[in-house]
Amino acid sequence: MTISEALSKAQTITTLYSDTPSLDAQVLLSHILETPRTWVLAHPEGKLTPNQQNALSQKLSQIESGTPLPYVLGHWDFYGLEFTVSPAVLIPRPETELLIEEALQWLRAHPKHRTAADIGTGSGCIAITLAKQIPNLQVTATDVSPDALDIAHTNADKHSVAEQIRFVQTNLLNDERTTFNIICANLPYIPTAALHSLDVYGQEPTLALDGGPDGLNAIRDLLKHAPQYLALGGLILLEIDSSQGISALSLAQDNFPNASLRLLPDLAGHDRLIRIET
Ligand SMILES: C[S@@+](CC[C@H](N)C(=O)[O-])C[C@H]1O[C@@H](n2cnc3c(N)ncnc32)[C@H](O)[C@@H]1O
Repeated sequence: MTISEALSKAQTITTLYSDTPSLDAQVLLSHILETPRTWVLAHPEGKLTPNQQNALSQKLSQIESGTPLPYVLGHWDFYGLEFTVSPAVLIPRPETELLIEEALQWLRAHPKHRTAADIGTGSGCIAITLAKQIPNLQVTATDVSPDALDIAHTNADKHSVAEQIRFVQTNLLNDERTTFNIICANLPYIPTAALHSLDVYGQEPTLALDGGPDGLNAIRDLLKHAPQYLALGGLILLEIDSSQGISALSLAQDNFPNASLRLLPDLAGHDRLIRIET
């Protein structure tokens, strides 16, 4: 089987499960052939070995049974870094790169502010990306899920930032005795009733998605307690669902009446981030 034939076989299947079937087929072949995607595209006449053909069939069966591609591959890219993923963690999303951009901009403008918290760290993509970009940043990354924290640890080792990050299994920031210059969180924000209609329901961890009746349970709780954890002149960045802008902003206003509050849109123009600067 040639690479060109393998790509078209893969795309026939990914078309049924993805909005980006061509890209997914290329990423899958790049993973199986252990070469960059650009090499795959430049060598359509190359041949797959029997082992590679078997691997392709096996992975396409997993995709056909509904497993998301990142779990099939065991890794996914976020902000230019490759993260190990398993069904214990949310697959990092491109929307979350907005939070990273805002955090980095603020951290670069405030070189003395070098303590951060990442609440609901999952794969560790936020904590690790920030630590990698800001080498003297110290991050506390929390999650209620011990399995997620195992993956986050693996990723911190993979990117050589384990010494900058303290992983803690806890609810939000419970039991922390310190304050942070910046608090980031991408907590579960899908309203429970909407969960069942999502493609990702049953694939990605419910703990990472289910935000309670209005989707704001975890965010509400965090905002209530955040004033005690935020250092003077600090920043909070919270990812939200596009439908939650006004409600989340009003929660922020209740808990931080004197702060500068902003609602930021993602690249698609949807409300995506609450920014609270004190
Ligand atoms: C939407 S996922 C985000 C994961 C990762 N930060 C990202 O952006 O890809 C939410 C994460 O929050 C964790 N979580 C849910 N409720 C939590 C709570 N009360 N305290 C700490 N972590 C929580 C989940 O286990 C999950 O890993």
